[in-house]
Amino acid sequence: MNKAFVMGGTGFVGERVCAQLLAQGWQVTVPTRSRASSGTAPRIGGVTLLELDVHDEAALRGALMGQDAVVNLVAILHGTQAQFQQVHVSLLEKLARAAVAAGVKQLVHVSAIGANAQQPLSAPSMYLRSKGQGEAVLLRAATLTEPPGFELTILRPSVIFGAHDKFLNVFASLQKTLPFMPLAGADARFQPVWVEDVASAVLRCLARSEPAAAARAPLVLEACGPDVFTLRELVQLAARLSGVRGGRGRAVFALPKWLARVQATLMELAPGEPVMTRDNLDSMKLDNVASGALPGLDYLGIKVAALVPVATAYLGAKHAV
Ligand SMILES: NC(=O)c1ccc[n+]([C@@H]2O[C@H](COP(=O)([O-])OP(=O)(O)OC[C@H]3O[C@@H](n4cnc5c(N)ncnc54)[C@H](OP(=O)(O)O)[C@@H]3O)[C@@H](O)[C@H]2O)c1
Repeated sequence: MNKAFVMGGTGFVGERVCAQLLAQGWQVTVPTRSRASSGTAPRIGGVTLLELDVHDEAALRGALMGQDAVVNLVAILHGTQAQFQQVHVSLLEKLARAAVAAGVKQLVHVSAIGANAQQPLSAPSMYLRSKGQGEAVLLRAATLTEPPGFELTILRPSVIFGAHDKFLNVFASLQKTLPFMPLAGADARFQPVWVEDVASAVLRCLARSEPAAAARAPLVLEACGPDVFTLRELVQLAARLSGVRGGRGRAVFALPKWLARVQATLMELAPGEPVMTRDNLDSMKLDNVASGALPGLDYLGIKVAALVPVATAYLGAKHAV
């Protein structure tokens, strides 16, 4: 039985990756910082949950011994420069060394649309700059010939939707309570991709069947759905599909840039996980859509699902009022 180590496997995408791995007969280990607060872990029956500090390189190396593949889904959306560096760059340096030392054969890393491994610092936000730097670390490590690196696939998704997303669900919830929707980045464009398609892509990357030489070359793919929407359209869709206010939702008030920054600053100061930060606004300076310069999920034989039919099923069930 093949063994996979799924870092970030307790998260939104991780749950579906683990479910698909288990269904395909993989033995799955998921590290978590804390069993007690490990996200979706209670929903993933059948995985071995391991309390581990993945930033401790020796511990990580030990945990990778005997694993055939690693899937990395660890990421943060909000944080300081130092936190982005730690999670998106330093962790990948440690992971690359540990994977080589442990003889891991395959690594699938989930990055993000807008990350640029060639010119990471050209990206507009800390999130995207650090994602690009992390990709560059893995690409360098994968092409080492002595000792041999691992087979690497990098997936760059646009925003991901699914039953437990913090995206359409949040837009639907907000519209239940707010009198109107003050929206930053209303015209920013996204190409949402279904979480099951991202998980299928991870599985297919692990089963890449090109001739041996080609299979060793790192592969970078863009993971996007079939349709492009503005953020305003997505907010309105979330209301329509969830039936908030009879599907009418709330009036969307597109914030001018200066007011969007004020709103984001206030959200950063409020307790708890912010809905939007100034760094998120910076990320939206780039359209979150496929560049077309890289292969998409069709390269893996995946016919990506459209948002509306999938989201209708889960938003309607969860948010009906
Ligand atoms: N969701 C999207 O719309 C979207 C869009 C584009 C790209 N992506 C990418 O897809 C991947 C998965 O995203 P997701 O939405 O599934 O993320 P998620 O739900 O936030 O899960 C991330 C996981 O990473 C672990 N983690 C978080 N901070 C950590 C830290 N400082 N040190 C170690 N582990 C940490 C957490 O596990 P524990 O708490 O159990 O330790 C958590 O379960 C990420 O690379 C993300 O950038 C996501």
